[in-house]
This record gives sequence, C-alpha cells and structure tokens, in this order.
Amino acid sequence: MHKEGSFDRFDNTESKNMTGIYGEAREDLEDILHMLESRVETLRARYREDDSDPVEHCLGRIKSEESMREKCRRQSLPETPASALGAIHDAIGLRVVCAFLNDVYMMRDYILGFDDIELVQEKDYIRRAKPNGYRSLHLIVRVHAPSSAGRTYYAEIQLRTISMDTWAALEHHMKYKKEVGGNTELLVSELKRCADELASTDLSMQTLRDMIKQ
Ligand code: GTP
Ligand code: MG
Repeated sequence: MHKEGSFDRFDNTESKNMTGIYGEAREDLEDILHMLESRVETLRARYREDDSDPVEHCLGRIKSEESMREKCRRQSLPETPASALGAIHDAIGLRVVCAFLNDVYMMRDYILGFDDIELVQEKDYIRRAKPNGYRSLHLIVRVHAPSSAGRTYYAEIQLRTISMDTWAALEHHMKYKKEVGGNTELLVSELKRCADELASTDLSMQTLRDMIKQ
C-alpha cells in the first residue's frame, strides 16, 4: 500500500493562495488522464484492425472543483490539495465500458500492465455486487505523472459492461429524483431485480460470443 508521503509538498496552510483545490497539480492530473485515455485508444485501434474492439466507450474526467470541495466537506476534510490528492482517490476518473464480461477483465490486466501504474485497491463489485445491485470493477491506482519524475497521483478506474453502465445510469438518475415518495421500497427491489437479470444476461451473452468465436 502506498504512503501519502509524496503529497507532503502540499501544505494545507498555503492552499488558499493557490488557484484551486488541486493547486499546482492541475496539469499533472490532466496529463495522466490523457495518458490513460490514449492507452485505451491505442489498444482499441489495434483490435479494430480485425473488427474486435473490446471497448464500447471510454470516459475520463477530472473531478470538478465544486464536487471535489463538496466531497471534502462531506468527509470533514479541509478543502486543500492535500485532501483532494492524498486523502481522496478519485480526482482522476476513468470509466471503461465493454460489451462483454471477459473484456472487462482483459482491460483490467492491460491497464495494470504498465510499469508506471501501481494497484492500490481493487473492489470487484462484479463478483460481489453491492446490496442495491450495483456492479462494476473498481481499481484505485497510483500513476506516475508523465512529465515529472517522482510525482504520483491516485486515479479511480471503473470497468463495467454496457448492461452495468445502463443500470448505474438509471439508478443514479433515480437517486436524485425526490418525488418517488411512497414507492421507494418497490423501486429499490425492482431495480435490484433488473440488476440481477442484466447480470445473468451478461453471462449468456458471453457464452454466445464464445460459441461464435470457436
Ligand atoms: P465514494 O462513493 O467516491 O465516496 O467512494 P466509495 O468508497 O464509496 O467508493 P465506491 O467504489 O463504492 O464508489 C465509487 C464510485 O462508484 C461512485 O462515485 C460512483 O461513481 C460509483 N458507484 C458506487 N456505488 C454506486 C451505486 O450504488 N450506484 C451508482 N450509480 N454508482 C455507484
Ligand atoms: Mg460510494
């Protein structure tokens, strides 16, 4: 497990004079995000040659100033670069959505195969779904900034199938709709049922593809 030591240069007391919650690290974060995205793109291009791109789509983002500040407040952390880059691990976020289940794990191995990436934590919500039905493979990694030797940052990489992505989008949407009111219990159990059905469909689709490939 990585220590927070490399963030010592961010002094909490100085942060108010810096330009934003990420201070002078902003550029490193963007460099890393572009590097991760272009690695995925390189692999996709290779597979596209024989029409077998494993990725449906890939989305990257730097967590916005406002939602990072909000997350700091929620976790009772000072709104400083030290919190945003050391205590919180998803300033950099990459979501890789694949058509098939096996490709999710193939992409995981590909991403972790680079020497400048270190796995910090893996949460396999596919093998062990969340109680609400949420499924995805989450990797917390430490990545070396391409331009600056020695500086490393956390990134959260979410890998999932199209079905899991569709479900998560709907569930997210519903969480922020307040007017569900008295039907909440039914909605929660129906959502869970949908998640389980989608998971079983993902397995069937994988089997079908394996049969076609043979
Ligand atoms: P935060 O949620 O980021 O505070 O951290 P955590 O420790 O709970 O991490 P976790 O791996 O559970 O979730 C990280 C991210 O995964 C979230 O910010 C969401 O993008 C996504 N996620 C996790 N659980 C759910 C869920 O139940 N529904 C949906 N739609 N997304 C989820
Ligand atoms: Mg969470």
